[in-house]
Amino acid sequence: MTKITPQPGIMDIALYQGGQSHVAGVEHVIKLSSNENPFGPSPKAIEAVRDSAATLHRYPNTDHASLRAAIGARHGLDPAQIICGVGSDEVLQFIAQAYAGPGDEVIYTEHGFSMYPIIARMAGAAPVMVAERDRKVDVDAILAAVTSQTRIVFVTNPGNPTSTMISNDELDRLAQGLPDTCLMVLDGAYAEFVDDFDGGASLVDAYENVIMTRTFSKVYGLGGMRVGWGYAHQSIIDVLNRVRQPFNLSLTALAAAEAAISDIEFLTFCQSENARLRVWLAEELDKIGVPSDPSCTNFILARFGDRAEAEACDDYLKTQGLIVRRVAGYNLPNALRITVGDEEACRRVVSAITAFKEGAA
Ligand SMILES: Cc1ncc(COP(=O)(O)O)c(C=O)c1O
Repeated sequence: MTKITPQPGIMDIALYQGGQSHVAGVEHVIKLSSNENPFGPSPKAIEAVRDSAATLHRYPNTDHASLRAAIGARHGLDPAQIICGVGSDEVLQFIAQAYAGPGDEVIYTEHGFSMYPIIARMAGAAPVMVAERDRKVDVDAILAAVTSQTRIVFVTNPGNPTSTMISNDELDRLAQGLPDTCLMVLDGAYAEFVDDFDGGASLVDAYENVIMTRTFSKVYGLGGMRVGWGYAHQSIIDVLNRVRQPFNLSLTALAAAEAAISDIEFLTFCQSENARLRVWLAEELDKIGVPSDPSCTNFILARFGDRAEAEACDDYLKTQGLIVRRVAGYNLPNALRITVGDEEACRRVVSAITAFKEGAA
């Protein structure tokens, strides 16, 4: 037997389960399991990727200055307070690695993104799950769970897979209630799907211990490129940059993200189609007895009578070439998370679930 053993806690890490993209025996599938943009990336991002091909022998820059400037200009933020990562996943990992370790606790919420406990354990810290209330983050429950060991609180707003959100006032109450030795991370992966929402940037400006993370994987349609970013007080960004590899983002990824964030026309189109279709999808499903909370994201959380019905519906949808996401692992066994696709995809989902409800399964 090998005497080489991993660090304590590493073997407790459950591997992340990504959204399924194939169904055995079904050729043409519509993937609605990973909250990807049904319209793909911006044409300008595609062009930037092509253009970058000629300079692939060059290392990328290490400071991401041009992308940070573009992000700063778009959101009215100081580029010096921005850090870019290989997806927002990497930024979340920098935060855990830099600020939590053995003996520390990291709070995440009951239906929160499944990477939080993973990255807490990667850092050697103990993840602590806090209950939500009616599929919404419960600020009082979080505050009650904070101990002298708590170093980080992760909150997704709007939430995945719940699609709900809490107000900036509630978040402000959370920030005020946390000890200043504890970081509050506002994961805004879906912030672009909410009108007039800054993702929590104003809270970062107000509190030195608040960090906001964002991604190019959702509304910008660049999940395959792996680009995310964080915005925090300068002193925190200085810390995070020390655990970031200098060449973490490829030349191609940097070019794609910069082109994508400058294409306002495409962004607006994706946002308005999503806003229109998520309401239509939710209303049509509600009519046939499948309710969901009003969605603030690019997916809906469709609720069924019980776990058996949700799983039977998922099985039926697969036979119809529609892949959605089971969320029992997020403590939501009677629900399915359905990404808002384009109009054709939404219509197919509604007619398949209608057929299922009418007994087609
Ligand atoms: C809530 C939330 N945070 C973070 C991420 C990570 O996104 P990425 O690493 O692609 O930026 C996701 C992806 O699904 C997410 O749903």
